[in-house]
Amino acid sequence: MAARARRKPNLPRAEPNGADAPTPQPGADAPKRQPGAAAPFDDVGAAAAHCWQLLVRGSRDRRAAWRTPVLSTIGLDGAPRSRVLVLRRAEPAAGLLWLHTDLRSAKVAELAADPRAALTFWDPRRALQLRVEGVAGFEPDPAILAQAWARVPEVARRSYCTVEPPGRRLAGEILFDARGERNFAMLAIRVERLEWLWLGPDRHCRGESRRLGEGWEAAALVP
Ligand SMILES: Cc1cc2nc3c(=O)[nH]c(=O)nc-3n(C[C@H](O)[C@H](O)[C@H](O)COP(=O)(O)O)c2cc1C
Repeated sequence: MAARARRKPNLPRAEPNGADAPTPQPGADAPKRQPGAAAPFDDVGAAAAHCWQLLVRGSRDRRAAWRTPVLSTIGLDGAPRSRVLVLRRAEPAAGLLWLHTDLRSAKVAELAADPRAALTFWDPRRALQLRVEGVAGFEPDPAILAQAWARVPEVARRSYCTVEPPGRRLAGEILFDARGERNFAMLAIRVERLEWLWLGPDRHCRGESRRLGEGWEAAALVP
C-alpha cells in the first residue's frame, strides 16, 4: 500500500506586509515624479486635491478602484464592523461622500447610535491608500430620495424589497414585496479627515487633510 502523503498543517500562508512587499508602481495618471523634483505627494495641498479627484472618479466610473470602499462603523456592542459599499457621489467642495443602503441594515442602527464612520479605499495601480474619517447623516428630503430611487437599477432594487430585513436568519424562502423604496436610504459621510499613503517606487509618502473651520489644513506625516 502506498504511503499516505503527509498533510501539511492547514495554516494560512503569510502575506508580505505593506512595508516590506515590493511596491506596486503608480498608474499613468498618478502625479508624475520628475528627476530632481519633489515626490508627487510632497505637496500636501496637491495630494489632497488629487485624492478628491480620485474620489469623484470612483463615484462615476464603475471600474475605478475607489468605487468600492470599506465602510467601518462602531457596532452596538462597541466592536468594529466593516463592509464594502459602492461610492455613489463625491462632493469635494462640501467634503461629502454619498452611499446608498437599506434603512433596516445593521449599519444604519449603528450610525444612529454613533455617527462616527470611516471609509478605506485602496488603489493597487496607483499604490494609493486613502483613509477617511467622518460623521454620518441621512438624506431627509423625500423628493431627493425619490429621484435617486428612480435611478436604482431593477436588479439592485430587489435587495430593498425583501420582506424580512437584511441580515436576518432565513427561515424559509425569501419573500419580496413592492415597498423597497421605503427601505432606501442615502447615507452621507461628512468628511472630517483624509489620510493618504502612497507607496512610491523608492519611498512612501503619508499625509492628511483635516477640516478646519470653513477650509482644510493639510500636513505631511511620517509614513
Ligand atoms: C462589491 C460590493 C458592493 C456593495 N455595495 C453595497 C452598497 O452600495 N450598499 C449596501 O448597503 N451594501 C452594499 N454591499 C453589501 C455590504 O457589504 C453588506 O453586506 C450589507 O450592506 C450589510 O451590511 P450591514 O449588515 O453591516 O449593515 C456591497 C457588497 C459588495 C461585495
